[in-house]
Amino acid sequence: MHPADEARLDDAIAFLRQTDTTALLAEIVPELSSEDLAEIVKTCELRHAAVLVFPENSGEIDDALARRGLTAEEPKPSVVVKARLAARYRQSLSELDVQIRRVPVPLEGRRPLMIELFTLTVAPGSPLTAIADGERERNDEAHVALAIGQPDRMAISAMRSILSDHGWMRPDDGGYNRREGNTVLYFRDASARNHFVRRVELLTSGYYPAIIDAHRRNSVPAAKRLLTLMTGAWATQAIHVAAELKLADAIAGQPEATAAQLAETTASDVDSLTRLLRYLASIGVVTQSRRGTFELTELGRLLRIDADPALRPLALLYGGPFYESFGHFLHSVRTGEEAFDDHFGEHHFEYFAKRPELSELFDTAMASSAAMFGAVAEVVALDGVNRIVDVAGGTSPLLRRMLAAAPRARGVLFDRPHVLDGARPKPHFSRRTALEQQLRLWSDSSLALAGERLRQATGDSRKNYGRAETLTRRTLLALAQLAAHH
Ligand SMILES: C[S@@+](CC[C@H](N)C(=O)[O-])C[C@H]1O[C@@H](n2cnc3c(N)ncnc32)[C@H](O)[C@@H]1O
Repeated sequence: MHPADEARLDDAIAFLRQTDTTALLAEIVPELSSEDLAEIVKTCELRHAAVLVFPENSGEIDDALARRGLTAEEPKPSVVVKARLAARYRQSLSELDVQIRRVPVPLEGRRPLMIELFTLTVAPGSPLTAIADGERERNDEAHVALAIGQPDRMAISAMRSILSDHGWMRPDDGGYNRREGNTVLYFRDASARNHFVRRVELLTSGYYPAIIDAHRRNSVPAAKRLLTLMTGAWATQAIHVAAELKLADAIAGQPEATAAQLAETTASDVDSLTRLLRYLASIGVVTQSRRGTFELTELGRLLRIDADPALRPLALLYGGPFYESFGHFLHSVRTGEEAFDDHFGEHHFEYFAKRPELSELFDTAMASSAAMFGAVAEVVALDGVNRIVDVAGGTSPLLRRMLAAAPRARGVLFDRPHVLDGARPKPHFSRRTALEQQLRLWSDSSLALAGERLRQATGDSRKNYGRAETLTRRTLLALAQLAAHH
């Protein structure tokens, strides 16, 4: 056999000798704890490692195996690998006689594992040589199989989620192998260190069509995933325009409205709005009925003005001034400067502070997104806490949640003066007034010193919070007060 194929066969044997189910799972789902691994190993086990070789004739394979003390079971025709090779190398299926041989590999002190040996006979000078060269280099068909012992819908569903969600594996197609009576789900991690674990096959006996369908739906090719990322700006703008037009409220207010009626309500062009609505449907913000009417999805409902949390202000901010500054991101990466400063002429906090409308939009956007961090109050141990300080806490939405969870605690909010003015006053904030009074007693040199300390504490003089000249007297004083209490 070709020396490269001999070496790849040896790799497969060595892989099976060095690996067991636990080691394999630890490699492909590194986030799992050893307790979780021990549980999973009870239901699923490493079954085989697969390799594709290209002998000049079938006698070569038997010789190569015999030299290693191995014997193959009877060959069977391959369906999946044959179809994959035909598609990859644009060959007709009839020209590819791909066979599968199962080769038991005895292992010291353990049950034997299998090599799934795929073979495509390639005679010298055959046009199929290109396939052999390509596959010897890329090893695209190498994979390992994990088998679920007891066929069980829950076990296969759980394993599918574990492999997809707890590591770098991505769903990569699957199907039902009628001949074997097996459901097979494939996963892929193109950058795995070892080529055998770049593709993992999860198999179980029985037919599970719903699970196969779900797996296929999640199997998005890399080029399509990248394309979705590259067109992220389109999604940002579509959501931004919907927010500007108050489209979510228009849809909610007229459940049976067509695109034409919605165009009238939102004062927009019918054709363009129809395209926008179709695009929003494709990204899951609205759904379109057969009658041509539209409904908000769970995502779309968050764009309504009175939603909780209300994400419309964030849509306006991210698709508005921040979107514009992101257009100059290259400048940031080239120079280390902030694109917003370069484009708008000053830092966004100063720029917004001078424009009440933008400032309000920013604070409202921050406040609504803070609702998503509400769980902080549940995960932080608040027992015995008597003071909660939110530095740069905006208009205090998070602080208020924290104080609701710790009613005995006092809250201290640090932010810029115009932002503090927008914070909802609460009895807890009486301390703020006291701090403001203290501020008037501080000399400029004390303030400068506090600024310097803050710069040292943040460790980066270019960071906004560490830039003394951008710190308000009030913030400096409040931080210095805080430091004094510690
Ligand atoms: C990204 S926002 C976060 C707001 C809030 N923590 C939240 O998560 O919703 C940053 C906050 O830092 C505040 N900030 C910026 N520069 C500041 C300064 N020099 N002193 C105090 N606060 C400042 C802004 O006003 C703004 O509220």
